[in-house]
Amino acid sequence: MEDKEKRLREKILGLVREYYAFHAAAGEFVPQRTRIPYGGRVYDGEELAALVDSSLDFWLTLGERGREFSGRLAKYLGRDHCLLVNSGSSANLLAFAALCSPTLDNPIKPGDEVITVAAGFPTTVNPVIQYGCVPVFVDIDPHTLNVDASLLEPALSSKTRAVMIAHMAGNPFEVESVLSFVEKHGLYLVEDNCDALGSRYQGRLTGSFGHLATQSFYASHHITMGSGGAVLTDNPELHRILVSLRDWGRDCFCGPGEDNRCGKRFSGRHGSLPAGFDHKYVYSQLGYNLQPLDLQAAIGLVQMDKLESFIKIRRENHQVLGEAASLVPWLRVQQATPRSEPSWFGLVLTLAGDAPVDRRCVLEYLEEKNIQTRLVFAGNIIRQPAYRGVKYRVAGKLTNTDLVMERTFFIGVYPGIDRARRDYMAVVLSGLKNLSC
Ligand SMILES: Cc1ncc(COP(=O)(O)O)c(C=O)c1O
Repeated sequence: MEDKEKRLREKILGLVREYYAFHAAAGEFVPQRTRIPYGGRVYDGEELAALVDSSLDFWLTLGERGREFSGRLAKYLGRDHCLLVNSGSSANLLAFAALCSPTLDNPIKPGDEVITVAAGFPTTVNPVIQYGCVPVFVDIDPHTLNVDASLLEPALSSKTRAVMIAHMAGNPFEVESVLSFVEKHGLYLVEDNCDALGSRYQGRLTGSFGHLATQSFYASHHITMGSGGAVLTDNPELHRILVSLRDWGRDCFCGPGEDNRCGKRFSGRHGSLPAGFDHKYVYSQLGYNLQPLDLQAAIGLVQMDKLESFIKIRRENHQVLGEAASLVPWLRVQQATPRSEPSWFGLVLTLAGDAPVDRRCVLEYLEEKNIQTRLVFAGNIIRQPAYRGVKYRVAGKLTNTDLVMERTFFIGVYPGIDRARRDYMAVVLSGLKNLSC
């Protein structure tokens, strides 16, 4: 970079940081009046500067920053490969699509079954349906809100090919039992780690266990790039398929703007295509275009630097707010899975059967106090309108899943909740014991 360009850039980035500092100084927390969201972007002048810096390059499509971010995430999770995509939902779609690819030896086929849970986020389950397979729903444990691993074996059939589940709200599922089930029956495990970056099970990071694992970088997640996601695997063949599926289905693995990385652009032979057909236009998968932008990766890189501090704050907030909620005799706090250290997505609370008030009353009270509430995603997914007419199987009963649909909600623990906000939230939470509607 030339001196003048460098100086101009530094000047611009300095102004961006100054702008952020000016902007940040404007907001002050006023109890009851300032809204406390369940999650959101936590950033400072460095993310803004990184975004503007990247925009000055105007490369836009995935490039150097994308490569660096993928490398750092793969290293953090101890995985061989990481593919960046434009959302966690796209990551789940591609993870499952890869397992259905005809270029894979013994791919998952339409009609095959995939064991999952109905209490969760829809796009953990949707790819199974979208690829013509049958989700098999098992119930969850009422304390951890994760899959009840003792129900996996009874849910097995000759058509079962995979387990695809998320770590609920950052709380690791019982990885040991799930892995031993999967290994015993030669199944795939797709580990949806979208809500759980930084969680550990037996000391090891979640997202490092599944044949495929997915991440989301949506604004409310542990780190953000606005919208974004990633698929991680140690299997080079699956990674190759994932790259192709993300990038239009093409066979060629040149990056944007690259022309002949394989050195065989015009000399290959591909099925019945004319000899020497340009490798850039050979399609070996039924693909999509699910790429994020390098601008997003620029933000993600700065967020990565903050990940450990974000996780620490999430844990502290969960601890303090969980203790406050425990003072309410009819509220149950989601329990950490034994031998796990969750990197919590939120504080998930369930009204006990003998609660003197109903959930709606609690939610309206908290919202009135300007504490944002959310339900635990789809509740029981099979009761959602979109799933009418969808082919699925329920193994056993979904009793605890229905409880989540009817009695559970969550509030935030994200790093935007500072000491003042947390103290206020704790007072409001413990005050719920006197609530009457
Ligand atoms: C468990 C889980 N999986 C997948 C997703 C989808 O991620 P995204 O919003 O990035 O598409 C979410 C969304 O929050 C989620 O909670």
